[in-house]
Amino acid sequence: MTTDIRDIPEAHVDRALDLAHLAFHATAGDATRKRQRELLLKCERVGAYDHEEIVGFAAAHRLGLSVPGGELPVAELDFVSVAPTHRRRGVLTAMMGELLGRCAAGHRPLACLWASEEAIYGRFGFGPATETYAVEINTTRPLALRVTPDPRPLRLIAPADTFTVLAPLYETGRARRGGRLSRDEAWWRRAARTDDEAGDDAKDGPPRVVVLGAKDAPAAGYVVYRVGEKGTVTVDELEAADAPAAAALWSYLASIDLTRKVQAWTVAPDDPLLHFAADRAQVRVTGQWPAMWLRLVDVERALTARSWAAPVDLVLDVRDATLPANAGCFRLTAGPSGAAYGPTGDPADLTLDVRDLSACYLGGVLVRRLVQAGLVEEHTPGAARLLDAALETEHLPLAGEGT
Ligand SMILES: CC(C)(COP(=O)(O)OP(=O)(O)OC[C@H]1O[C@@H](n2cnc3c(N)ncnc32)[C@H](O)[C@@H]1OP(=O)(O)O)[C@@H](O)C(=O)NCCC(=O)NCCS
Repeated sequence: MTTDIRDIPEAHVDRALDLAHLAFHATAGDATRKRQRELLLKCERVGAYDHEEIVGFAAAHRLGLSVPGGELPVAELDFVSVAPTHRRRGVLTAMMGELLGRCAAGHRPLACLWASEEAIYGRFGFGPATETYAVEINTTRPLALRVTPDPRPLRLIAPADTFTVLAPLYETGRARRGGRLSRDEAWWRRAARTDDEAGDDAKDGPPRVVVLGAKDAPAAGYVVYRVGEKGTVTVDELEAADAPAAAALWSYLASIDLTRKVQAWTVAPDDPLLHFAADRAQVRVTGQWPAMWLRLVDVERALTARSWAAPVDLVLDVRDATLPANAGCFRLTAGPSGAAYGPTGDPADLTLDVRDLSACYLGGVLVRRLVQAGLVEEHTPGAARLLDAALETEHLPLAGEGT
């Protein structure tokens, strides 16, 4: 192969973006391009060069990811693209090896991404660690609920206030669920742009932000939504402290005049709405898919940094073709007071690929389902069940959109 893998300097960022737009068959207006450029300047950027031509490009945002019991540094991979003239020659494989190696060397124990094609990333150790539901509510009749909505007042806030009002609530929600990325002030400012500011980035009408709770009292939740031309309310994000707060916000969305439908794309499979809706013909799950793909880059650090729900003492035989430091037999001794993970000569209780361990890491996928699917080998009967009990989390992980 004549390509070599190098950093993409700032001077080549526009060329790298051109390649990404070519690979994704995308056209980007000025506003989109400006936003992408700004993001890329803050990223780690890896390019595959064929002499001086950029034929492969991948970027990594440096962020934090909520994991059970805390947060870990994560590389969120983005703009993964290879020139159509250079595909299937190992360019992506070379870039991935480079990025994951850098990630390990830079003490980022996790990598994640949103896959445009599901078949690509398993081979590099990524597993689908979060599941997202798309939900539609028929709002031509009042929303029937089995819980009483929180009676506190709802108030529309100005987009400019989203960072100060919403960010603390988002952080509280993040602490409850794994899979959620850190957001800086710039993220909130981008999310709150009016259509004029967003230009060709504008989605379905301007974002409206409603908060539950009086002005000078602590808020119990918020919703960011848009109303499209056909009377469809699209939920960008809904965060609620508890079931009554969630009921108040969903009821509000369902009651907006001149609308007929509420749709939400990022609903956790254990979202309370799916339980407290009195009529599931009115509140329907219309789709489900793996949202974020996760990769344990440093398995030891990832496992010892998360919290554990129950005691477990097992030997894991981990396979990892891309990052061999993770491969081999390791004893995991974990419980509510902490975890240790180190090499052992003892026989394995479970043999699994790092992609499957990554899928289970946030507690959203059961190890025993993967045993049943023939993907994880259980040498000691009951080992998968014990690991599941230890990995279990109070709430399922949920990932919204990437950066
Ligand atoms: C997807 C893409 C990045 C792959 O790059 P590439 O350099 O051709 O990949 P590689 O040659 O390193 O392929 C590695 C392996 O992945 C497989 N693979 C690559 N793309 C795949 C796809 N879209 N679906 C299924 N398998 C794929 C290859 O067949 C190869 O498998 P093998 O080792 O068993 O032969 C490139 O085709 C591309 O840029 N596509 C358009 C943009 C895109 O889809 N990006 C992904 C964003 S999430």
